[in-house]
Amino acid sequence: MLVTGNDILIPARAGKYGVGSFNTNNMEITQAIIHTAEKLRSPVMVQMSEGAIKYGGQDLANIVKDIATRASVPVALHLDHGSSYESALRAIKMGFTSVMIDASHHGFEENVHETRRVVEAAHAMGISVEAELGRLGGIEEHIVVDEKDAFLTDPEEAVQFVEQTGTDYLAIAIGTSHGAYKGKGRPYIDQARIARIGELLGIPLVAHGSSGVPAEIVQRFRAAGGEIGEAAGIDDDDLREACQHGIAKVNVDTDLRLASTVGIREVLTASPKEFDPRKIFGPARDVMAQVIEHKMRVLGSVGKA
Ligand code: G3H
Ligand code: 13P
Ligand code: NA
Ligand code: ZN
Repeated sequence: MLVTGNDILIPARAGKYGVGSFNTNNMEITQAIIHTAEKLRSPVMVQMSEGAIKYGGQDLANIVKDIATRASVPVALHLDHGSSYESALRAIKMGFTSVMIDASHHGFEENVHETRRVVEAAHAMGISVEAELGRLGGIEEHIVVDEKDAFLTDPEEAVQFVEQTGTDYLAIAIGTSHGAYKGKGRPYIDQARIARIGELLGIPLVAHGSSGVPAEIVQRFRAAGGEIGEAAGIDDDDLREACQHGIAKVNVDTDLRLASTVGIREVLTASPKEFDPRKIFGPARDVMAQVIEHKMRVLGSVGKA
């Protein structure tokens, strides 16, 4: 069933588990996400970025809504990194049930102002809202506190931000970054900061940049002719711990990009004569489903729907 973000994330926060919010850009990605959720009885969020809306538009939103509506588990359609009030409103008109307004690159007051406008409009339509405070970006474990504080989310400021905006869930900067290169070895994530913010705020917290960049997928990517540098993602145990401290929405895009490309490359390499799209995109869908299943098990959302 198609539900709002709050319907999924409030129970997740209360139950100390995470729900994957996976980026989609086409039918196969959407099927992998929602069909895996059904198989595992897991709630799930499907998110489209502004780039995904540019690419797939209302057609793609309708595919997500249709599969979600027929699904046997709760599914939300979420706008990822909405850059303006207008963008959030457009998504709501397209049928999204959750929207992110990302005004985190502005100063605090401007972020509050823009977020509050979106919250007022979205709540009037029964849609829930994600906002962001702080700056995403990989950091080193041992950098001085002042430098961390310059862009990671300040706990007291987060409380003020939520009070002043009424946002339903909050994306916090905790050291993670987007993409396949999150840092050397086991990328640092500021668990103490998550725990502090989780003590002060009862709403669901959101972790962006949460792909694991699994070594096995990276190795298969290389074996199938792909080129990738010193890739590293968020360790499974670090995500498990973050969900104990208040992270309820866990954003994953990179892992599905890598998995789908592995599936496609493996077919094209092994079967140069193949040109049936179903034999090419089908295996990509299967590799994505495996990665999604692993993530749902790590987050603890399996069996919660
Ligand atoms: O946060 C970024 C997501 O990975 C979406 O990326 O804007 O290229 O669709 P995109
Ligand atoms: P990854 O690049 O780690 O998959 O993060 C995706 C994300 O945060 C989308 O908002
Ligand atoms: Na988002
Ligand atoms: Zn993000």
